[in-house]
Amino acid sequence: MAAIDLRPEPDSRGETSGQDLVLSRLSKRFTDFTAVDGLDLVIPSGSFFALLGPSGCGKTTTLRMIAGLEQPTSGTISIGGRDITGTTPHRRPVNTVFQNYALFPHMSVLDNVGFGLKRRKVRDADAQAKAALELVELGHLGNRRPAQLSGGQQQRVALARAVVNRPAVLLLDEPLGALDMKLRRQMQTELKKIQTEVGLTFVHVTHDQEEAMTMADTVAVMNNGRVEQMGAPQELYELPRTAFVANFLGKSNLMQADVTGESGGYLQLNAGGQHLQVRLDRATDHAGRVLIGIRPEKLRMLPGAAVPPPVPPAAPGRLPAGGAEGTEAALRAVVLDASFSGASTEYLVEVEGIGTMGVFSQNRGAALAAPGDRVSLSWDADHAFGLRGDEDRLAGAGEDGL
Ligand SMILES: Nc1ncnc2c1ncn2[C@@H]1O[C@H](COP(=O)(O)OP(=O)(O)O)[C@@H](O)[C@H]1O
Ligand SMILES: [Mg+2]
Repeated sequence: MAAIDLRPEPDSRGETSGQDLVLSRLSKRFTDFTAVDGLDLVIPSGSFFALLGPSGCGKTTTLRMIAGLEQPTSGTISIGGRDITGTTPHRRPVNTVFQNYALFPHMSVLDNVGFGLKRRKVRDADAQAKAALELVELGHLGNRRPAQLSGGQQQRVALARAVVNRPAVLLLDEPLGALDMKLRRQMQTELKKIQTEVGLTFVHVTHDQEEAMTMADTVAVMNNGRVEQMGAPQELYELPRTAFVANFLGKSNLMQADVTGESGGYLQLNAGGQHLQVRLDRATDHAGRVLIGIRPEKLRMLPGAAVPPPVPPAAPGRLPAGGAEGTEAALRAVVLDASFSGASTEYLVEVEGIGTMGVFSQNRGAALAAPGDRVSLSWDADHAFGLRGDEDRLAGAGEDGL
């Protein structure tokens, strides 16, 4: 990193931490439509926070309210304990990187980056702008015009222009949306690296679940103007709490089941005559009709109709639920479809008494099965999760946010 310090401006006590961004009961109504519906969020200073959700769920409106470009209908926004709800945009310690970069076409790259500093009459504006350009590895292209750069390079200029102002919070609205897939993946890594280096808070808006999971420390999954669930990527993926999160973040098999009892820390379930189990602490509801979920890659598929014997629980010391129950489910199925995609194959199978399920299988050798084949399916019950029974099984499925 260059000698010029690009980390966030310290506050009056000389601290850069404690600049948490807090949204309280934040709402935005447009005439007859509620775009953002009572958001409560604490975004810790220095974190990489992703707002993830399908198109129209209120992500951009949320960012625009934080930036001051849109006035909330109700609720408050504060940074570092200071209420900025009524503060004009240019007086907020916030900068925004838009999808279309919004660079000045008639200015050099270096002047684009230094523009805000010069307007504020910062003394060593050029040196700071150069440092910011070096941070994004474009130090050698400062004399070019934006049109003479590739999309990825323009995106980095926009980032340098925002970072150079040392805001407490950087807002990024689908900043990689205009890039092709390969460049997008590469920029994800670079953006994350830059965030770590400068240590400022990034609020990154995206509809791309893979992007959110690879980059962010914390992901908030938004749907219809609300946060459905928030947490570390792995935590959200492994234990979704709503059908929308289970389907929007990766894929899930969700089955209806009835609770028949509890034993050994597991909820006992009947799904279409099949006995299944889910850990009590992984189920939102413990009685009546529930949904039970299992990720496609957690399923083991074996050729033949013979149901394999229950496998002992994976973790030593964990109590099995008792006798033949074990912690393993095993079901009979028929393969309906096999879709080869190189590293893995996605199977669609019809499970006796339950319905269709998806199975991801890594291609280690020859194909496991072909359409029409009888197979058996099993999984470690510890990977299953339980959701409310009245939820829409298909909520969020197939939505790519576009
Ligand atoms: N100025 C506006 N007037 C009326 N409706 C709006 C306005 N801006 C956004 N909306 C609506 O609010 C909803 C959320 O929009 P937006 O925040 O842009 O979603 P996202 O960024 O998640 O795709 C959408 O249904 C959109 O049509
Ligand atoms: Mg948007």
